[in-house]
Amino acid sequence: MTVIPGTRLAEASGLHKTFGDIHAVNDVSLHIDAGETYGLLGPNGAGKTTTISILAGLLEADEGTVMVAGERIRPRSTRGRAAIGLVPQDLAIYPDLTAEENLKFFAALYGMSRRDSAPRIAEVLDVIGLTDRRKDRTSKYSGGMKRRLNIGIGLLHSPRLLILDEPTVGVDPQSRNAILESVETLSGEGMAVLYTTHYMEEAERLCDRIGIIDSGRVIAEGTRAELTASIGEQERIRIEVTGQVADAASRLRGLDGVTDVAAEDDAVVVLADDGSARLSAIIERLAGAGAQIGSIDLARPDLEAVFLHLTGKALRE
Ligand SMILES: Nc1ncnc2c1ncn2[C@@H]1O[C@H](COP(=O)(O)OP(=O)(O)OP(=O)(O)O)[C@@H](O)[C@H]1O
Ligand SMILES: [Mg+2]
Repeated sequence: MTVIPGTRLAEASGLHKTFGDIHAVNDVSLHIDAGETYGLLGPNGAGKTTTISILAGLLEADEGTVMVAGERIRPRSTRGRAAIGLVPQDLAIYPDLTAEENLKFFAALYGMSRRDSAPRIAEVLDVIGLTDRRKDRTSKYSGGMKRRLNIGIGLLHSPRLLILDEPTVGVDPQSRNAILESVETLSGEGMAVLYTTHYMEEAERLCDRIGIIDSGRVIAEGTRAELTASIGEQERIRIEVTGQVADAASRLRGLDGVTDVAAEDDAVVVLADDGSARLSAIIERLAGAGAQIGSIDLARPDLEAVFLHLTGKALRE
């Protein structure tokens, strides 16, 4: 692949999409350069899949434009489509075929000749770490191996922009790491990557720039350092609790130094100035509310804290 790092590869401007009353994508603009990994970080229903479906030309926007590799992307045209590799959130592989047969099938579908596809399939199997298992039927694969093959299919035609929609959901730690490493390798080779996730650790590890998306809007964008600097020196305190989590969380609102509070399934997440100094008061309040306290985690500002500060919600509720 010959790409010049820093070349503007993809640009979405003023995208809107509504489904009935739901404004799924509300004025989203973003751009990605060659060799850059852009993360779209947001909770369930934020508009990530809708945004990338528009970017990949699968879904028509109500308003706005998408340019990829110098071509305008539109659902009714195949222009620019060869530059895009989309790895969908839902698996799109054939369980009765082996990994190699799946790749051969999709290579034929992309119009690749057998001569071109054979070496490329070998390369792709290597990138996704499935060379040893290439002759096994994919119905026997673990969830993580199926996900890796799903990525391989998106890579077959050597796209310049790879779009991955939450590729690590429900995979084992080993496959997860393999997926993250593949993305790092591809990005290092100059591919532009658009990576959606609701795991902030992945966005922090992989992404050069991150757009935080909520309710269809990109509410903040920048490098990890820029985003965390925007909320100052606050610390994030995550306290596991059993009992009435929402009630326990509400008791912490208004406590001195506490700026934001959100409830997760089994934890409260607090944003506080000088968090360590506030910890005893916070624990006292929680105990007073009858909450059973488990582990306590105190962290410097991270993307989770940025999300909480901007939305008043936890990323994972
Ligand atoms: N085809 C559709 N018809 C109606 N509503 C839709 C459709 N697709 C998406 N939506 C709605 O648009 C909003 C955004 O959905 P989207 O799938 O883009 O979110 P997401 O960020 O990808 O979420 P997740 O993390 O759960 O995959 C949601 O409220 C969803 O219910
Ligand atoms: Mg989605």
